[in-house]
Parts: sequence; structure tokens; C-alpha cells
Amino acid sequence: MKTIVSLEEMQQSALRWRREGKRIGLVPTMGSLHEGHLSLIQRCREQVDIVVVSVFVNPIQFGPQEDLAGYPRDLERDALLAGKAGADYVFAPTAQEMYPPDFVSLVRVEKLTEGLCGAARPGHFQGVTTVVAKLFNLVQPDVAVFGAKDYQQATVIRRMVRDLAFPVEIVVAPIVREGNGLAKSSRNQYLSHEERAEALILYQSLRFAESLIRGGERQAADIKASMTEMIDSVEQSRIDYIEIVHPETLEPVEEITGDVVIALAVFIGKTRLIDNLMVHVASSS
Ligand code: PAF
Repeated sequence: MKTIVSLEEMQQSALRWRREGKRIGLVPTMGSLHEGHLSLIQRCREQVDIVVVSVFVNPIQFGPQEDLAGYPRDLERDALLAGKAGADYVFAPTAQEMYPPDFVSLVRVEKLTEGLCGAARPGHFQGVTTVVAKLFNLVQPDVAVFGAKDYQQATVIRRMVRDLAFPVEIVVAPIVREGNGLAKSSRNQYLSHEERAEALILYQSLRFAESLIRGGERQAADIKASMTEMIDSVEQSRIDYIEIVHPETLEPVEEITGDVVIALAVFIGKTRLIDNLMVHVASSS
């Protein structure tokens, strides 16, 4: 397990591996690795010769009110965990080298970034797509693995790759949950004991919504109203959004006539958590 910091060393190594005919896999992360990330690394390991895990807390995807300085950082621990899960290299560039003072180039995916998390976090996805595009150029991956918990992020990146013809296969790995259903997230560590228990409402409300759809309910507004009532009954919760969207366009659906993704962002105390559930529905057209 080796850690690479310099952009030049990363890109030169990657170009050499490609010349040697090796397949490269990238798992982009902001560190603070948990079991969700480790499952992405294991998934990547199965598909390539060389697995690179990037650990970079990307400043340009944080809004002014978001806690960039307080984001948990422990590179030594992350490198150890990444190595155990099957990574060959950790790429941990500095913000100064990634974004020198005269950096002025941004990658923006339109439409897909307007709703859901994009509505409350203007500029966030532009920060994500810009850093992911740069990481792709530095690591030259054949395969890049992202988690389904950030469903909108994965959809936006897939579209960027398609629209801009990046020669990278995007793999989206399933959400890893605790036994009680709570989706694994770096942010869970901010939750108190009571808040952790309250946070279970996210997945419970998603499963409830799924059961309503399975029972024949097709009106998104009614499903969202039931979910809202359920989540509002939890004392420390504050809903940012609940949406039922088309899995590819991410456009809100009014009447459910095919597969949908139910996505939500909810504050539990001060911590904003996201989760989602894809529900397969036989197309009625
Ligand atoms: O999902 C994340 O951790 C980040 O958004 C990513 C993809 C590593 C880009 O900074």
C-alpha cells in the first residue's frame, strides 16, 4: 500500500500502468472511510489490476455555511482501512495543488443538478463533477466505483461521463446499511446516541412508502404526505426534501407508472442525512 500525494507522480504512474496493459480502478472518497466505502473498494478490486482510492476533502463542493474545516480527516487510518479492503494506492493530493490560485475551469452538468440535493446546495455538484473529472485525468481509471447512497451524485457523474465521452465505466454499488437499516455515512459519527435512534426514521419512511406503492398507491403527493407525517413525528427531525423521481432524469413524478427512486434529505438535530430507495414498478403504459 503506497500513498501518492503529487499530481505528477499520480498521472505518470497511471500512464505507465496503462502502457503496461494494466486495468486501473478508482474509488473517489473524501476519506473518513466506513464500511460503505470498503464495499466500494472490494467491488473495484474484483474488476481491475490496480485499485486507487482517492482521499481528498474537496473544498469546492462545500457551501459557505457547510463545515469544510470540521470535516473529519485521518489519512493514516483511511490508508490502513483502504489497504485492508484491497486498495493498492491511496491518492491524497493537497488542495493547494488541486486548486492553485489561478484555477478557473469548472465542469457543470445542468438539469440533473437542479433538484433534490442541488436545490439546497447550489454549486455543490459543480464542485463534485469538477473534482471527479480532474481525478479521472490524473488516475486514468478504466472503472470508477461510486455508492448508491448518493443517488443524484452517481446519476450526475454517469451523465458527465456520457456527455463528455470519458472512457471510464461507472459502477454504482448498493447502499450498505446497519442491521437496523441506517445507511452507512461519514456523517453518522456526528449523531448522538438518541439521534442515531431517531435517524432510523429515514429508512423506515422509505420502506413505508415502498409498501404503499406495492399496495397500489400511485399518487406521489399522497405518498410524500404520509412520509412527511411519519418523519415529523420524530422530535429532532427537520425535512429538507422528500421526492419521488424518475431514476434517470431525476424529474419529480406525479403519478407512478414505472420505476421510481424515492429520495430524501432530513436533518436529525444538526446533521443532514440522505437516503433513497429504488422501487421497481411494472410499467403501466
Ligand atoms: O461522494 C464523495 O465522497 C464525494 O462527493 C466525491 C465523489 C469523492 C467527490 O469529492
